[in-house]
Amino acid sequence: MEQKEIQELSEKILRLKKERNAVILAHFYQRPEIQDVADFIGDSLSLSQQAASTDAEVIIFCGVHFMAESASILSPGKIVVLPDEHAGCPMADMIDAVQLVCKKQEIPGVIVVCYVNTSAEVKAECDIACTSANAVKVVASLPPDRPILFVPDKNLGLYIAAQTGREMILWEGYCNTHDKLTAEDILKAKAEHPEALVMVHPECRPEVTALADKVSSTAGMINFAAASDAREFIIGTEMGILHPLKKRCPDKQFYMASKKLMCPNMKKTTLDKVYQALVTLEPRVDVPEEIRERAIVCLERMMAIK
Ligand code: 13P
Ligand code: SF4
Repeated sequence: MEQKEIQELSEKILRLKKERNAVILAHFYQRPEIQDVADFIGDSLSLSQQAASTDAEVIIFCGVHFMAESASILSPGKIVVLPDEHAGCPMADMIDAVQLVCKKQEIPGVIVVCYVNTSAEVKAECDIACTSANAVKVVASLPPDRPILFVPDKNLGLYIAAQTGREMILWEGYCNTHDKLTAEDILKAKAEHPEALVMVHPECRPEVTALADKVSSTAGMINFAAASDAREFIIGTEMGILHPLKKRCPDKQFYMASKKLMCPNMKKTTLDKVYQALVTLEPRVDVPEEIRERAIVCLERMMAIK
């Protein structure tokens, strides 16, 4: 799409958004032009907080399905629209509620911690949720004498276990974008940019996080780069983050650790689809009340952890 078309469509979106009393929430992995029309851009945690506190009637959620579901769980009565209904998260699809219920029966007294990258049905079976920004705090807050099952991201689980010293039973899920990043990719990028600090997401493999100067959520990486004296950074997360990084730190250099770091689902949302979503208020994400009532418990417990 040409710059002029982007500008015209963005203006139409901004006008219609006001008429609809809608708020546009966008994750840092969204296309730059989507981030530029959003009211709030953030990581999973801050987008959940925004969804919980907005007084708009309509939430246009530019992200993936589980994020829009969290918005719907936290904002009952609001219309939540996901501009592309097929924008899912393959990692969230690596576990379902039936599998989880079976696993829980094998572990008496278990506390189940779910990464927010899970369906509402799975959340309804869990005790507490976490995002990459608060996962270590959430697990550290749990009683020491109970077994913990962490679902579904084994890489994030290994990282939390190492940080907290808590033993955890891990589900065998993974993000097939972050899991592609290898230690060799990082070593090659470091050889090319010897002055650069390495920032990676905890969804990366343990041998990758072991090589990083900073392991954190997307928001944590942006804050770290802004506060750091370093001028150059190697990025080990989805490439959408380059847009907010360059905006926040225009005088610093950012290098992707690998060209493979692209989440096809996050890129399904386009400006055209956002415009159509505002026109039709479809496709909606609606969590049935019976699931919502149970799923909200683990999200509220997470949000109570400071
Ligand atoms: P953040 O919570 O760090 O934004 O990550 C969300 C996600 O899906 C990472 O792949
Ligand atoms: Fe899911 Fe990975 Fe895409 Fe995040 S980057 S939405 S975890 S597939």
